Amino acid sequence: MGILLTGGAGYIASHTAVALASAGHRVVCLDNLLNSRAEMVERVGDITGQAIPLILADIRDTDALQQAIRDHGITAVIHFAGLKAVGESVAWPIAYYDNNVRGTLSLVEAMAVCNVKTLVFSSSATVYGLPLYLPLDESHPTSATNPYGRTKLMVEEMLADIAHADPDWRIAVLRYFNPVGAHPSGLIGEDPHGTPNNLMPYISRVASGRLQELSVYGDDYETADGTGVRDYIHVTDLAQGHVAGLRAIGTGDRPFAIWNLGTGRGHSVLEVIAAFERVNGVSVPYRIVARRPGDVAACYASVDKARSELGFEASLGLQEMVGSAWRFERMLRASNT
Ligand code: NAD
Ligand code: WQD
Repeated sequence: MGILLTGGAGYIASHTAVALASAGHRVVCLDNLLNSRAEMVERVGDITGQAIPLILADIRDTDALQQAIRDHGITAVIHFAGLKAVGESVAWPIAYYDNNVRGTLSLVEAMAVCNVKTLVFSSSATVYGLPLYLPLDESHPTSATNPYGRTKLMVEEMLADIAHADPDWRIAVLRYFNPVGAHPSGLIGEDPHGTPNNLMPYISRVASGRLQELSVYGDDYETADGTGVRDYIHVTDLAQGHVAGLRAIGTGDRPFAIWNLGTGRGHSVLEVIAAFERVNGVSVPYRIVARRPGDVAACYASVDKARSELGFEASLGLQEMVGSAWRFERMLRASNT
C-alpha cells in the first residue's frame, strides 16, 4: 500500500513511518514543518533502509494534497498533522480550529476527489473529558474542556458523518493516551519547539541541564502518592497500533471504528521521575507546586477493544520508555554540540 502520513515529520508519525515501512508498506510523508524538522524523515530512511519522500505542504492546501495522493499512488492516509498544545489552544482558538478542523476538512475533500477513502485519524484520550469511571473504554461519554479537545471531538464527529453518508469510507479513529519514549536507536524521538508542555520531554531537559527543575503539578490528588496518574504508552508500541488499526479498518466491513491505544495501566508523576533517575543514573530535581488547571487525578485506558479487535497489546514498560527518552535526548545534545 502507498500510505500518506500527514504531519509525517512529527513525533508519532516518524515512529509510525518506521513501523509501516518495516511491515512492507510504501510510506510518503507530508508536513509543513511547523513543529518538526525534515531531518527526522531522513533518519526514518536511515533506520528502515528505505528513502522516504517528504512533501513540504500544508494540509489546508487541498490542491497540494490531491497532487500528493495522485503523484505517489496513495491508497490510504494516516492523519497526524495538527496543533496539540492545550494551553496554546485556549490562547489561540482560531489557529486551532483552522489547522485541526479546516485542515482535516481539506484532507477529506482531497481524498474524496481522488477516491481514496481509507483514513486513520490521530485522536486523543482528551475527548473523554473528566473521567466518570476508570478505565476509560470507548463508550465512555465524550466532552471537551478546552479548544484543542473540542477540535478532536469535532473532527471525530465529522468523520463519523462522512462514513455514515458513504459506507465506502474506511475510517479508524485512534484515541492515544500519553505517548512517550523514542525509537531504540535514539535517532528519532520527541523534540518539541520551545519549552515542553508534556512531562517526559520536560524531565529529559531537566536531566540534561537544559531546564533547571521540574514543577510537579500537585501532590494532593486522590492517588497513591498524591500526584497525577496517566497511561503512558511507548511510542514504538503506539506505532504498531497504527499498523494494526490500518489493517483492521482496511480489511474489515465497518466504515467507521474507534480504538483506544494505551497500556491499560497508570503511573504517577513521582513514579516516572523515580524510574527515569534509576534507569538512567541521572538526577531530576523537582519541586511540588500547585495543581495545573484542567488536570485530572487519573486517566488510563481500557485496552480490551484494541486487544480483541486489533490484536494489539503494548509490550514495553516504563523502563523502556524512560531509557529510550534519555537515549534520544543525549543523541540530540551530542548532534547539536
Ligand atoms: P507533532 O507536533 O510532533 O507532529 C505534528 C506534525 O504536524 C508536525 O510535524 C507539524 O509540523 C505538522 N503540522 C502541523 N500543522 C500542519 C499543517 N497545517 N500542515 C502540514 N503539517 C502540519 O505532534 P505529535 O505528538 O506527533 O502528534 C501527532 C498527532 O497526534 C496530533 O494530531 C496530535 O493532536 C495527536 N495526539 C498527540 C498526543 C501526544 O501526547 N503527543 C496525544 C494524543 C493525540
Ligand atoms: C502528565 C502528568 C501533569 C508536566 C496532555 C494533553 C492530552 C494529550 C497528552 C494530546 C500530569 C504532570 C506535566 C510538568 C507535571 N495530548 N506534569 N509537570 O496532561 O495527561 O495530557 O498530553 O492529545 O490532550 O492534555 O500529559 O504530559 O502534560 O502530563 O507534573 O511539567 O504529568 O500534571 O499529571 P496530560 P502531560
